[in-house]
Order: sequence, then structure tokens, then C-alpha cells
Amino acid sequence: MNQTELENRAEDVLASLRSKINQVIPLIELLSKFNGNMNELKKVACYLEEWGYGITLTSTDICLTSIPDILSDIEIKNSLSTEFIGNDIACYGSVKSTNDIAKENAENGARHGTVIIADQQTKGRGRFGRVWHSPPGCGASISIILRPDFLPENAPSLSLIIALALVETLNEYCSGHARIKWPNDVLLEEKKTAGILTELSADKNKINYLIVGIGININQSAEDFDDEIKDIATSVRIIKGKKINRAELVGRFLSQFEKEYIEYSENLLLNSLDRLRKYSSLVGETVSLSLGKKIITGKVVDINPDGSLVVDQNGERISLTCGEVTVIKK
Ligand code: BTN
Repeated sequence: MNQTELENRAEDVLASLRSKINQVIPLIELLSKFNGNMNELKKVACYLEEWGYGITLTSTDICLTSIPDILSDIEIKNSLSTEFIGNDIACYGSVKSTNDIAKENAENGARHGTVIIADQQTKGRGRFGRVWHSPPGCGASISIILRPDFLPENAPSLSLIIALALVETLNEYCSGHARIKWPNDVLLEEKKTAGILTELSADKNKINYLIVGIGININQSAEDFDDEIKDIATSVRIIKGKKINRAELVGRFLSQFEKEYIEYSENLLLNSLDRLRKYSSLVGETVSLSLGKKIITGKVVDINPDGSLVVDQNGERISLTCGEVTVIKK
């Protein structure tokens, strides 16, 4: 068996064993299914063990005892139900920034929906030139390459669509706790759990490609956050009180994102607006935001159909299209 054959066989064996985790399966059953031999199966078992799977192989039986928390394409694809997002997935251990890799791949012609994922980033980038912390084994750093048909002016609101998909995914784990902090953050119990950084390459009327970068804090415990962010950041694990299978969460998120993306491509925010308002952490809050040299302070009263935030400042309604909002505590 060459490496590709080994990988394909490992994928098939895993697909058979996954639904019967902790059950002892007679080898004869498995070998007949794959028309394989014992020697091959030993190699497959070794290969899977190297990836962290728990496998017990005897001369008569095989048993899958555990599935590792790894961000591999096999594990992500197991939770993926999409048409085009994630048809190509490249998974990395440690990289500087997945957005940089995605940009390079996009320049070299990568397909619409290509996903780049890393376990760790050493130079993860956030908005406003900030650093995005992504230590190993904790979160997921994801970049998706999109080649949309919509106009460049519709690119910024896509962040809200990503946030919507994130909220709906995180709510499957932390029922009803997730909120969108317009325009780019997702919060659990008022602390940041995910951030979005979109980068655009466009001509006047046409998007060449859009890179959407998403960082999700999944399995961090409180000690994993640096001092500077420990009071404002949280993770799914902290809120749920339990470790999460990261690949499963990523697969579910990408599946949800594809649905939201198709909807956005067809109708922009028309059918998403109610949910954006419902999940907003800002509607009803008093906030401040700097707009050029001016500081706007007022109450958030709505989100417009174009995704802009409506702030009431002393009776005057101001629509904000970008920026970073600070909530003023009462
Ligand atoms: C923010 O909250 O300021 C945005 C954070 C975006 C982080 C993600 S992680 C994947 C992608 N690669 C990066 O370097 N940044 C984005």
C-alpha cells in the first residue's frame, strides 16, 4: 500500500468503526467489507494510532475506543454537509496566519469555498492591527476563500452572516447564550468567543476573492488566555463546562455558514435581519463609537436592512457602517 492508499483505507476503516465506537467488531466482518488482509489492517491501525485514535486490534477483533480532538480534514468532513464550502480543506498544525495562506492560495486560483484551518497561529491577525491569540490544541483558526457574484459594496455585511452562522452553531453547544457584537464579534456571556476578519481583493465592480478569517475559542480554559485578554475573552468549554470536539464544531459551523451564504447571495440580509436583531448584544444598549474625529454616544435602536447599526444620539438617528463599539455600562 502506498501512502495515498493507506490514507484512503484508513478513512474507510474509520467510517465503518465510527458509528460503533467501543464495540468489538470481528475482523472477518471488516476485512470482507474492504477485501483487505490482516497485514494491511495492522498498518491502518498503526496509522490511526499515530493520529491519536484509540484502536484495539487482536487476531480476531478490532475496536475503536476513542477519537482524538484534532482538526484534520477527515474529522471535519465527518460533520460537514455542504455543497461547496470545504470541498477543498487544507489543515495545518502551526502557521503564522491562515488568512495569509488563504490569500496566497486565492492568488494561485484556489476554488470558491476552499477552507484553510490551523490548530495554532503564531502571528494571527485581528482587526485594527491587533493580535489574535491562537495557542495550540485550544481553538480553531479558519480562513475561507470565497469568489462571490455580489458587488464589492456588499462584502462588509458578510461579516454579519458569518457571525450569524457562528451564533447558531455555538447555541447548539451553549443553548441560547451566544450573541453578535456588531459587526465582527461573537460573545458568550458577554465575553468574546470568536472574531472575524474579512479581507477583500476587488476591482471597482467585481470581487476577485474574499478571505473570511474566523478565530474561535473552543477548548481554552481560563489560564490559556493572556493577562491582557483574560477578562474579556471566554471559550465554549468555559461556558459549557466541558471539552468540545473541535472538528465537529468546525464542520457544523461551515455547514451553517454555507446555508447563510447562499441566502445572502440571493437576498442579501432580507431574511436574516430578524435573527441579526434577535441575537444582537447591542440593540437597546448605550454605546460609544469613534467616527473619524467625532465620538458618537447614544442608544442602539436597530440594525438596518443593509446591516448598518442605528444609534439614537439625542433624538438624531445615525447609521454606522463600521467601527468598534464600546458598551457604556449603566
Ligand atoms: C478580531 O477579532 O479582531 C478578528 C480576529 C480574526 C482571527 C482569525 S483566526 C483565522 C484568521 N487568520 C488570522 O490571522 N486572523 C483570522
